[in-house]
Amino acid sequence: MPRLGLGIYAPGEKNEVSRAVRWALETGYRLIDTASVYQNEEEVGRGMKDSGIQRSEVFITSKVGNDEQGYDQTLRAYDQSLKRLQTDYLDLYLVHWPIRDTRKETWRALETLYNEKRVRAIGVSNYYQPHLEELFAYASVVPAVNQFEQSPFLYRPELLAYCREKHIQPEGYSPLVRGRKESNEVLESIATQYEKSTYQVLIRWGLQQGLVTIPKSTNQKRIQENFDVWDFELSEGDMQQLNALNADVRVADDPMDY
Ligand SMILES: NC(=O)c1ccc[n+]([C@@H]2O[C@H](COP(=O)([O-])OP(=O)(O)OC[C@H]3O[C@@H](n4cnc5c(N)ncnc54)[C@H](OP(=O)(O)O)[C@@H]3O)[C@@H](O)[C@H]2O)c1
Repeated sequence: MPRLGLGIYAPGEKNEVSRAVRWALETGYRLIDTASVYQNEEEVGRGMKDSGIQRSEVFITSKVGNDEQGYDQTLRAYDQSLKRLQTDYLDLYLVHWPIRDTRKETWRALETLYNEKRVRAIGVSNYYQPHLEELFAYASVVPAVNQFEQSPFLYRPELLAYCREKHIQPEGYSPLVRGRKESNEVLESIATQYEKSTYQVLIRWGLQQGLVTIPKSTNQKRIQENFDVWDFELSEGDMQQLNALNADVRVADDPMDY
């Protein structure tokens, strides 16, 4: 699985998403993160076609929406996502949110897809430790990935450690805190020191935490900037300063409310 991908949570204007996907693939991204609820899977599929890059070179993630959960519904939802994306398999299919009444049957459907080799990997999203513990009581396939919100402002070292112990790859979403922290003093001083933007520092923090990181942008220059993070490394001291910014700042819902 690529370590850095394009998040594409953006209903957007017509063609905004397909253009962004094409620019990202031209820049070197090989992971695209979408979901049926983002209502842009058609455009993601079109962007991939327009790029001319082979399907097998791109890692595509999509997610079962909350309204699509349940055994039969999930199997149907998977087929519909494939159709919209114009592909015959996904690299990773996730349970988008742990909906109490349906998450068990939804997982069973993902296991069916996996056992039938219709999807390369299955995983979860927004699962905190209690959700994972519950899942382990009935799952026969370990989720390959858990995607949850992560940034220095919402740092969850215990959940990261738990995922690692269970051999689940953690993936961090909203790594840029949707731009709400670009002027944070600590972040700015670290960015100046490395001659990088605060956005690039946030992405680098995620990568150095061992997270698969999926910043969203539909702007060509920013898509390129967010991928230009391989020529510097944050020191241990700077990582610790960033970890200390944790203040439970969320842009999405708290999974414990589900
Ligand atoms: N599993 C889940 O429940 C879940 C929930 C939320 C998000 N996600 C995934 O994670 C992805 C990323 O999270 P997110 O979209 O919430 O937010 P994000 O990546 O933290 O931030 C995106 C925002 O930052 C701006 N931006 C991006 N790069 C920038 C740069 N270099 N300089 C200045 N501004 C920049 C973008 O605007 P422009 O587009 O104009 O550049 C956009 O407004 C989503 O797209 C989605 O794929 C998953």
